[in-house]
Amino acid sequence: MFVLGMRAPEIAASVRAGQFVNLGWAGGPLLRRPFSVYRAEGDVIEVVLKAVGVGTAQLLSMEPGDIVSCLGPLGRGFEISGSHVALISGGLGVAPMPLAARDAIAAGARVTWIHGARTADELCAEADGDEVVWATDDGSRGFHGTAVAAAPDVDLVLACGPNRMLAAAAERWPDAQVAVETYMGCGTGVCLGCAVPLARGGYDRACKEGPVYRAADIKWSMLPANLHYVA
Ligand SMILES: Cc1cc2nc3c(=O)[nH]c(=O)nc-3n(C[C@H](O)[C@H](O)[C@H](O)COP(=O)(O)OP(=O)(O)OC[C@H]3O[C@@H](n4cnc5c(N)ncnc54)[C@H](O)[C@@H]3O)c2cc1C
Ligand code: FES
Repeated sequence: MFVLGMRAPEIAASVRAGQFVNLGWAGGPLLRRPFSVYRAEGDVIEVVLKAVGVGTAQLLSMEPGDIVSCLGPLGRGFEISGSHVALISGGLGVAPMPLAARDAIAAGARVTWIHGARTADELCAEADGDEVVWATDDGSRGFHGTAVAAAPDVDLVLACGPNRMLAAAAERWPDAQVAVETYMGCGTGVCLGCAVPLARGGYDRACKEGPVYRAADIKWSMLPANLHYVA
């Protein structure tokens, strides 16, 4: 995983945890690529990514000083409340969590961050909060099992990761807030390329009404168990 920093003062000043930016650049793919804002400090925002296709490979081959068109902050982020907040992340689902930790700590909450991956090698090295719990599917580091199983019961659960992880979180904590992944086109509510199936029927636009949802509001059986983003 790599962290890419961009000078984007307006976005850095206003972004909330769980919001994303849609990136486009000269010579890049026709459609912009969405990325959660990972950190924001001063004039700079950061995103975390790994090369999974043409767009991410091009972003990772950029040099300091290259120009990226950065649309954002987009979408609806986490609503943070409560005195003890658990951040649950799987794989690249770490992406919205540093800002969530920042906002929860600023609101006076105790933060427990549970980060899971398949093996110790795939764990993200950067996690923040009053307590950090590692979980691995193969038991090579920390809790032997999923991040959801390793999490304590708290006032508020915020989660991001593979859909199967979020579906498990929804079963345990229907009121958890989850940041979902979908394919996206415009990122601004126009193309309907980011449809998320809802438990009450119908669809929402992940880029506009999401990407953060109340866990029980999503019809998980209609979402693929895993997209590469968090794998
Ligand atoms: C709200 C949101 C936030 C995101 N935040 C991050 C982030 O912080 N870090 C990160 O690495 N990625 C993030 N993603 C996913 C990121 O947008 C994709 O990694 C990127 O679009 C892939 O582009 P590519 O050109 O490299 O891959 P492509 O060449 O377009 O595709 C490579 C493979 O990935 C699949 N794919 C393409 N786009 C997506 C997608 N959006 N979701 C799932 N599978 C896809 C394709 O089907 C193909 O199999 C986020 C997506 C959303 C919707
Ligand atoms: S990505 Fe176009 S409507 Fe959501």
